[in-house]
Amino acid sequence: MTESILADHLGPLDGFHDDRRHSERSEFREAVLSGLGQAPKAVSCKYFYDEEGSRLFERICELPEYYPTRTELGILQAHAADMARAIGRDAALVEFGSGASVKVRILLDALVSPRAYIPVDISREHLLASASALAADYPALPVVPVCADYTAGFPLPEAAAGAAPVAFFPGSTIGNFDPGEARAFLGRVARLVGPGGGLLIGVDLKKDTAILHAAYNDSAGVTAAFNLNLLKRVNRELGGDFDLARFEHRAVYDPGKGRIEMHIASQETQTVRVDGHRFAFAAGETIHTENSYKYDIAGFHAFASEAGFEARNVWTDPAHLFSVHYLVAR
Ligand code: AVI
Repeated sequence: MTESILADHLGPLDGFHDDRRHSERSEFREAVLSGLGQAPKAVSCKYFYDEEGSRLFERICELPEYYPTRTELGILQAHAADMARAIGRDAALVEFGSGASVKVRILLDALVSPRAYIPVDISREHLLASASALAADYPALPVVPVCADYTAGFPLPEAAAGAAPVAFFPGSTIGNFDPGEARAFLGRVARLVGPGGGLLIGVDLKKDTAILHAAYNDSAGVTAAFNLNLLKRVNRELGGDFDLARFEHRAVYDPGKGRIEMHIASQETQTVRVDGHRFAFAAGETIHTENSYKYDIAGFHAFASEAGFEARNVWTDPAHLFSVHYLVAR
């Protein structure tokens, strides 16, 4: 790592981990208790990603049935030069949810004189690990990790000043936001990058239901384990007594809403305790855990336009499974 290039905007370390863990735990507790107390029962997909959940998600991305990751990587590889031309020189690239930073490397290799790479992630450990690895491989590029919840507002660091800010949001994570949340999020991104700033975003497309069904009901059962891991997390962190053998994974495409819905279904009538509270389940009753919206290109453009973006370019794979859009803020 080139020390001078890996600047950080991570904030003070003292008490950071304990405070953050404490507030994350109590937010999780509130979400689970209120989500199980409502009808229909629901808990947000953002709670999937504890350590085990993140590992399971990485395995999902490698499954033969889960086409989005592989297809988006193929689109980036095939069209990186075009994307770099659309973005232009001197970009400060701001990546939301830095992950393993595999996709951004394809882009960085194609960009002309990028001015900075600014990965933004809530998980300090993952953020630092991936930022350090990237800084080691791109010694001339200022890498400025920002530890923040990218779904909320945050200021761009100094390193972006004078450069053209371009946000990068791959993976079709936008599909996990409900339409109102997605529009509000895109509006915040438009304000963050400012007029003329860009957004390169991966968006999963509507397609044959059988392909979608297979992607969310894989034959190795990894998506089922990913979904049910939420109950394990409740048991471990909130003293729950879910018996996982009495629940099952369910993922169904709703063509009217254009979304895959993931649920955890109770196989029988039963009562579960969480942190001293009792929750009754009827046989077949579900906890709604995730929506994964699928778009068509015209629909996504209309949507982005309402949020303050102009659609400039779109790239897809030959089978039209997935799309990558370059949008510019008005
Ligand atoms: C992270 N997100 C885009 C994934 C998706 O496809 O909606 C999460 C996922 N859920 C089940 N499989 C993958």
